Amino acid sequence: MPDTLTIPSSPAQPGGSPAAGGGGLPRLLPPAGAAPADLRAHLARHGALRYAGGRGRLTGEVAAAGLTGRGGAAFPVARKLAAAAGARPAPVAVGNGAEGEPASSKDASLLWLSPHLVLDGLQLAAEAAGAPSAVLYLRPGQRLHARLAQAIAERAAAGIDAVGVALVRAPDRFLAGEESALASRLAGRPALPAYRPARGLPRLAPARSALVQNVETLAHLALIARHGAGWFRQAGTAAEPGSMLVTLHLPDGHTTVAEVPLGIALADLLGLAAGQPGSGEPGVSCGPVPVQAVLVGGYHGTWLPAAQAARLPLANAMLRPLGAAVGAGVVAALPAGRCGLAETARVARYLALESAGQCGPCFNGLPRIAAALGHLAGSRPDRRAVTDLERWAGLVTGRGACHHPDGSVRFVRSALRAFAAEIGLHEAGRCSGTDPRPFLPLPADPPSSDADWS
Ligand SMILES: Cc1cc2nc3c(=O)[nH]c(=O)nc-3n(C[C@H](O)[C@H](O)[C@H](O)COP(=O)(O)O)c2cc1C
Ligand code: SF4
Repeated sequence: MPDTLTIPSSPAQPGGSPAAGGGGLPRLLPPAGAAPADLRAHLARHGALRYAGGRGRLTGEVAAAGLTGRGGAAFPVARKLAAAAGARPAPVAVGNGAEGEPASSKDASLLWLSPHLVLDGLQLAAEAAGAPSAVLYLRPGQRLHARLAQAIAERAAAGIDAVGVALVRAPDRFLAGEESALASRLAGRPALPAYRPARGLPRLAPARSALVQNVETLAHLALIARHGAGWFRQAGTAAEPGSMLVTLHLPDGHTTVAEVPLGIALADLLGLAAGQPGSGEPGVSCGPVPVQAVLVGGYHGTWLPAAQAARLPLANAMLRPLGAAVGAGVVAALPAGRCGLAETARVARYLALESAGQCGPCFNGLPRIAAALGHLAGSRPDRRAVTDLERWAGLVTGRGACHHPDGSVRFVRSALRAFAAEIGLHEAGRCSGTDPRPFLPLPADPPSSDADWS
């Protein structure tokens, strides 16, 4: 993964006021144009963090706030904090900043711009769990690592932290941030998902568990501790309160990170409007660029036809019945003129190479699925490839130790639906793609694998 960061752009900041203490947005990121926050700027904006001491602190407030994890699964944070508070011996508190998803850069942006908010949240999580120590698990990148090391040193000099924080570098793999892979890495082993994940909190050692929260979740925790549940609920919906960071891939090729209220209309988020400019035909466009489909939830997420996406909010309540989810906030608007099948085949091949190779259905199934998709993306494919794909997808689903095969298959199946017309075109020897450049981002150096691709 490149050592680059996406700096948030001001237009994608729906919600108005930059006041951190109010319900307005941005809450987590500095106002547009402001410099990344050092400790002095952080304390001037947010005020000091007060510790009340003791396990279980904050859990009630977090439950009232309705905060859910921002690492992808939207698990209620209060439930995890309560489990951690009851664990003996006390778990290690871990901030998960691995951000293995190549299309996401919201965690790196947050860590770069607001490192002390994440570190505040990590201290609070440690306190709630009675943790003796804390770890910040960071995605690759020398600059980011150095910046966090500096922030931790600033806090040590100011004497504001209750527990020490160790930095651990995550490997540059899609699965590195999966909870059991993270636990394996912290235990000194390769960052592979556990073949049989333990129930409850992941274990670093037989006697020591870990409380793992995404770094954005921790930053929200730091603000709830300061401003309370009522303040948190001033953004978002009653069922899905608060704001979240999103990584937007706009059809003109720009990528930006924004903080938005949960429940925001995808049309507002992406600037989608009805009508294909200049064509007189119905459709959806973003400014002058026609949009054919929207990927919601990243590479374990779901393609939706643009017209359908334009009617939906960024909310699990509406997305889940369609087999989609907000995930970790990756939203990509694919412009017309790019082949959706080719895009999906490229990413599916990457996902297959990222299989940890421990479970047969995943190790054998994902390469076959990727190859069949590559066939469909070619000229005059055999229609039976669609049937094969559906069959293999069914065989793989639910058969892995981790969610990688399920997420990958969800992504592929959604492409078969969203790009059904494109499949027909390819069967006729045609393709709607006029621009061969890749749209969805992938690492510059793809992972290597011994899998047979022939
Ligand atoms: C394949 C896979 C990859 C994941 N990668 C990440 C990641 O990079 N960062 C992250 O915070 N969570 C990731 N998760 C989710 C973690 O397992 C875990 O649920 C999360 O870190 C818990 O934090 P949260 O409850 O605050 O979201 C991943 C999950 C899966 C299945
Ligand atoms: S399901 Fe796939 S990625 Fe997950 S542990 Fe098994 S082989 Fe590895």
